[in-house]
Amino acid sequence: MSTDAIVLLKEDHKEMRRLFKEFAKAEEGPASKRQQLVNQILEALTVHTYLENEVMYPEVRKLLPDLEDDILESYEEHHVADLLCAELAAMDASDERFVAKTTVLIENVEHHVEEEEQEWFPKVREALGRNQLQEIGERMIAMRKDAPRTPTAPKAIKKAVDAVTA
Ligand SMILES: [Fe+2]
Ligand SMILES: [Fe+2]
Repeated sequence: MSTDAIVLLKEDHKEMRRLFKEFAKAEEGPASKRQQLVNQILEALTVHTYLENEVMYPEVRKLLPDLEDDILESYEEHHVADLLCAELAAMDASDERFVAKTTVLIENVEHHVEEEEQEWFPKVREALGRNQLQEIGERMIAMRKDAPRTPTAPKAIKKAVDAVTA
């Protein structure tokens, strides 16, 4: 198994895309299936965002000042997604806005993931050595166990608040 930070983050992205496709397929089916998928989506996003906010983004910002604008934009995109996730976590699948809100969340995340993968991850790969990316990846693996898993977990809320007040 690779410990390369970019490989790990892209694996998360792949799993998110899979869940997003499942959700699209479940739009006509029972609400319970949509609820189950949204729960999985919220968990995947909460863990992934935590690892990027706590490890990947600060590290890239420190090592590659040229990517500062990309990182700042990414924090803002995470913040918008965090708000939608927190609202969805408080909502029931029977709510008339549940599918609409999930769809907007998915559109936002797809756009954000696209920017990471197409625009600035390649620059990080080019600028940092293999060892550095593995070291960052190992830190993310270690943190994953203690990462918040729901948008309402204290660590996740603190992160969302820090993003607007820092
Ligand atoms: Fe991100
Ligand atoms: Fe990401």
